[in-house]
Amino acid sequence: MTLDSPTRLSPNTIALHWIVALMMIGLLAVGVYMTENGVYALYPWHKSLGVLIALFVVLRVAWRMLNGWPKAVGDYTSIEKRLAKIVHWVLIVGTVLMPISGVMMSGMGGHGVSFFNLELIAPNPDPANPQEVLPLNATLAQIGHLVHGWVGYLLIGAIVLHLVGALKHHLIDRDGTLRRMLGNEVEVTS
Ligand code: HEM
Ligand code: HEM
Repeated sequence: MTLDSPTRLSPNTIALHWIVALMMIGLLAVGVYMTENGVYALYPWHKSLGVLIALFVVLRVAWRMLNGWPKAVGDYTSIEKRLAKIVHWVLIVGTVLMPISGVMMSGMGGHGVSFFNLELIAPNPDPANPQEVLPLNATLAQIGHLVHGWVGYLLIGAIVLHLVGALKHHLIDRDGTLRRMLGNEVEVTS
């Protein structure tokens, strides 16, 4: 298994980055859309894909721990390096917190969690009114709901900053940061 080198990133880093990035952007967009518009038909899809991304996130975090973070391509000021580091941490911790808080909110809220057709946590219908559900643990469900909402919006902000950073490197600094994440061998000046 090849590790990242300063001039070329490992295929694992690249594949995991783009799989998680595309799924995160999709789930954030679907999450906001379905909640704002009350589109309940999308909830089971959102939950199933949210559980699926958790598998890639576990692999990604394990790979980050084994491999370390990619080295900067250029010689940047310490403020720029610190900002990039903070945003990368917010992104990676956010991708861990979203599936966990989603399962807490839905599972402990009594709504149940399925992975496509496979039931992971059964719903808990209210015997007095079977159309409604009763929470299994209302406090955990509420914590999950709060974290899911706040971290979701924090992540949208962090992704915008991350994208602006990637474009600044590519268009203004004209270095290999973005090309390296796209699989190219690049020159390193730091
Ligand atoms: C990385 C994975 C995930 C992302 C990025 C994500 C993102 C979001 C976002 C941005 C919202 C809208 C929040 C709001 O406006 O309050 C949302 C809502 C929701 N998510 Fe997720 N989610 C993920 C995983 C999950 C999982 C695994 C579950 C459950 C198993 C889940 C269940 C829900 C539910 C039920 C809502 C609607 C909450 C409501 O009606 O107030 N999500 N999600
Ligand atoms: C919008 C499209 C995106 C672009 C163009 C992009 C681009 C990049 C680039 C060029 C790097 C390399 C930075 C370096 O060499 O220091 C990077 C790293 C990283 N990106 Fe993205 N990214 C995008 C979306 C995302 C999303 C949605 C997430 C997670 C929610 C994410 C999480 C990360 C993380 C954690 C790193 C640090 C290195 C790693 O763990 O692989 N990115 N990204």
